[in-house]
Amino acid sequence: MEQKKPYIIKEQPGTKYYCGCGKSKNMPYCDGSHKGTDFFPRSVVIEEEKTVAICSCNRSATPPFCDGAHKRPE
Ligand code: FES
Repeated sequence: MEQKKPYIIKEQPGTKYYCGCGKSKNMPYCDGSHKGTDFFPRSVVIEEEKTVAICSCNRSATPPFCDGAHKRPE
């Protein structure tokens, strides 16, 4: 099985909307593709410039952030 890794992004301050449905074509950000599903983007306010790790395996206990779950066996 493929082991996914988090998206490592240097974010600027502001409100970010990370995809929570897995359908975005602009991962890890929401592009509106969730319309018609039961999923919604996850909004996060970034107070100051910082590097974040955004989960791409959908197993993190602290979404949208990576918690290392992609390294653990399923
Ligand atoms: S496109 Fe996935 S939550 Fe909006």
